Order: sequence, then C-alpha cells, then structure tokens
Amino acid sequence: METVTRLQNLRIAVDKLREGGRIALVPTMGALHDGHLSLVRAARERADHVVASIFVNPAQFGPNEDLDAYPRQLAEDSRMLEGEGVALLWAPPVEEVYPEGFATSISVSGVSENYCGAARPGHFDGVATVVCKLFNQVAPDIALFGEKDYQQLAVIRRMARDLDLFRPCADDIIGIPTMREEDGLAMSSRNRYLSPEHRRQAGGLPVAMRAAVTDLESGMALEEVLNALRTTLLRVGFESVDYAAFADAESLERLVAPPSTPARLLVAARVGGTRLIDSLAVKSLS
Ligand code: PAF
Repeated sequence: METVTRLQNLRIAVDKLREGGRIALVPTMGALHDGHLSLVRAARERADHVVASIFVNPAQFGPNEDLDAYPRQLAEDSRMLEGEGVALLWAPPVEEVYPEGFATSISVSGVSENYCGAARPGHFDGVATVVCKLFNQVAPDIALFGEKDYQQLAVIRRMARDLDLFRPCADDIIGIPTMREEDGLAMSSRNRYLSPEHRRQAGGLPVAMRAAVTDLESGMALEEVLNALRTTLLRVGFESVDYAAFADAESLERLVAPPSTPARLLVAARVGGTRLIDSLAVKSLS
C-alpha cells in the first residue's frame, strides 16, 4: 500500500491506479474498527482498486466538540488497511485540505437540518464540504459509506445529486449495512468510551429499536411506538434520548403515519455521557 500526504502525489498515484481499472473510495477519519474494514471489503468486491482516506476533518467539529481528543492512530490504521488490500492511503495534513485563504462551504438544506444536524450545528456543512473535496481529489468510480451514519449518507447523496457530481455520481454512492457487535450494538469508534456497565446497557439500544420496527409493522400507532421506545431506553440505563423518529429513507422527512415508501428509524441516545446513534430500515407498509 502506498501512502500519500500531498495532493500532487495523490494525483500521480490515482492516475496510475486508474489505468488498471475501477477505483473505489472509502473516506474515514481513522480510529478504524471492523465497521470501516467491512466498507473496504465491500469496496474490493465492487472495484479493482481501493483508495482509503484518513483525515480528521476540523470543519465538522463544533466549538464544544473536542477535535484534539479525537483518537489518532495512523500507524495502526495503516496496518489494518494494508491487511485488507487497500492500494492507496490518502492521509493529508490539515493545511493540504484547508490551505490559507480557504473560503468555501457546502450547505445541504432540508436533509441535514433535523436529528444530528439540529444537535450539531454546522456539522453536516463540514462533512459535505470535505466529502466533495475528497470526491474531487480522488475522482473515484464509486464511494462507500456506512449506513450507521444514515443522515450523513443521505446528505452526501443529496449533495451529489444537487451539484451533478460526476465522479462519483449520486447513484455510485453506496451505503453499506451497519456492522454490529454480538449483542447488536452498532460498531463505532465511540464505543471505546463506554465503561463495562455502560457497554452492557448500550446493547439495549438495538434491541429496543428492533422491537419498535416490529411494533410499527404490526400496526401499533407511530407515536405510541416512539413513546415506548424512549421509555425502554431510559429504563435500560440511557440518560437521555436526543431523538427517536421514523423518517422517509431519502428526504429524511419525519413521518407521522406508517410509511408508504421505504423509511428509516433514526435514534440518538446517551449512555454514560457517550452519544450513540443508530438506524434501522423500515419497509413501506402500504
Ligand atoms: O464518517 C466519517 O468518518 C466522516 O464524517 C467522513 C465521511 C470521513 C467525512 O469526514
């Protein structure tokens, strides 16, 4: 695996790879776990070469979020990516991505406004801006993102459609199902912050979410389902539920009645001070 940290070297390396076939991009902020590696494996099945990026993007951290505390472990991450057959690692320093005078931001309205967007103002502007740059820098045939960060995926797809992005185009932005621990908890770099007791309680999140989807599909009223879900999460040890909502799978508009198109259950809740998010698919019920 080749590692590049400068744009001019990236261009040379990518051009060389492109001669040998299709390129898949897996963007990350490092601190890799099996969830990220599942994206790399899915990328390898769909393309000839995988480019991974590791960039802890300052633009997506709010003033109260600790950018400096974000785990950085480039040597270990590189070993993991190499072991999975990644051809090229793009790991630029901050000044390569945001040089002196950088003044542009992409803001995707609608889909980015509720849920995590409401709790983290500016977060999705930072994500959209850096992902658009990564797309322009690597120009991959496809790009892969985890469905755990479902709102992020929806924002990126909306951006790609609205800006007529070409490489990758919106249809080549691929969502990969969430990798889960044995008890169903979605894999996340945040899980490492949980004490053993809070980790045990966190396992209640996917269980309660699956029950909520089943309840909705069996005809229980939507508001009743969400109230029961919030009550269960507080009972199993969560301190608070930031949001719990059924939403249209593409626009993320909040549903007030059973879905007539594919939908998603979206939840963010806190346990032991750690904010966990998860999402599950909900089928159209008519
Ligand atoms: O999901 C992430 O790790 C980041 O938000 C992403 C997509 C790499 C952009 O910085």
